[in-house]
Amino acid sequence: MRIAVIEGDGIGAEVTAEALKVLDATGACADVEYFDFGGERYLRTGETLPDSAVDELRSFDAVLLGAVGHPDVAPGVLERGILLKLRFELDLAVNLRPVKLLDGVTSALAGRTAADIDFVVVRENTEGLYAGAGGAIRVGTPNEIATQTSINTRLAAERCIRYAFDLATESNSSEVMLVHKTNVLADAGGLWQRAFDDVAADYPSIDPSYGHVDAVCLWMVTQPQRFQVLVTDNLFGDIITDLGAAISGGLGYAASGNLNLNGDVPSVYEPVHGSAPDIVGTGRANPVAAILSLWLALRGAGEGGAASRVLAATEQIVAEVGAEIGRGLATSDVGDRIAAAVEAQ
Ligand code: IPM
Ligand code: MN
Repeated sequence: MRIAVIEGDGIGAEVTAEALKVLDATGACADVEYFDFGGERYLRTGETLPDSAVDELRSFDAVLLGAVGHPDVAPGVLERGILLKLRFELDLAVNLRPVKLLDGVTSALAGRTAADIDFVVVRENTEGLYAGAGGAIRVGTPNEIATQTSINTRLAAERCIRYAFDLATESNSSEVMLVHKTNVLADAGGLWQRAFDDVAADYPSIDPSYGHVDAVCLWMVTQPQRFQVLVTDNLFGDIITDLGAAISGGLGYAASGNLNLNGDVPSVYEPVHGSAPDIVGTGRANPVAAILSLWLALRGAGEGGAASRVLAATEQIVAEVGAEIGRGLATSDVGDRIAAAVEAQ
């Protein structure tokens, strides 16, 4: 495998180093190449992610991204210039986000255990309100007007929904839930619902269901055990997966894969958390989200055996020492232990 690594900013380098340690321990032969995109490079050169770099990335089997976000760079510049550019240019159709409470981790929900919180969110990743359609006039005046239009194509909705049903099939899930707001967003919601119904007809053994996004937020708190596979648009997916992170131990445990479904360009795997400049160098960054993103990367690259070993080792170590992560146990100790557990398998 050829893997491109963009460590990015802040704790990005710290958590990525641990993921690479674990990758090394799997023995899945990987040729790793580093790209230095992020806030520092932007401040030095004014460049976020040049088109030539996107082209270079196309030939890799996977991209591991640490985190982007720099205190000296205006909000949005790196997010749009690096993260969203990768998602859009590489056509990373799906943002796959497991919401999985591991043994040894405390949920924000009292009394919940690993058995209660184990589902995945399939988030559309290329359009919706993220597409950048809209504009503003009379900016800064009392008559200012702004529009931000949600772009929804049947193609993008359908490929995401089909991915969700395939994933449900593979993971022996009995239900896929469409999450939207069809009672108010009738046009976009209608497109999603029709695509969902049509795709569901091809999967007779899986129950199609539907939840309004506001109700889904409530159920994620009151009855998270009811979910298996959720599929939703870009912004709803962004929001509910932060809630998902909160109930499964926090952003330190939230992994993601930005998946290209054609397989001709790499998918991009990243912990959901940001660059956390306030804890850089303290050893308190939790590398588990980055390591679980590696799990998704190995699975996506067809290294199923190595992927399972990474997941099992992570589950084992977090069960043993989860309470110490971010406290007594430093970032590199967590990576060392998980790597050792992979080797011991
Ligand atoms: C995420 C982040 C990004 C998003 C930001 C940083 C652009 O919140 O990956 O969830 O909104 O998608
Ligand atoms: Mn987000």
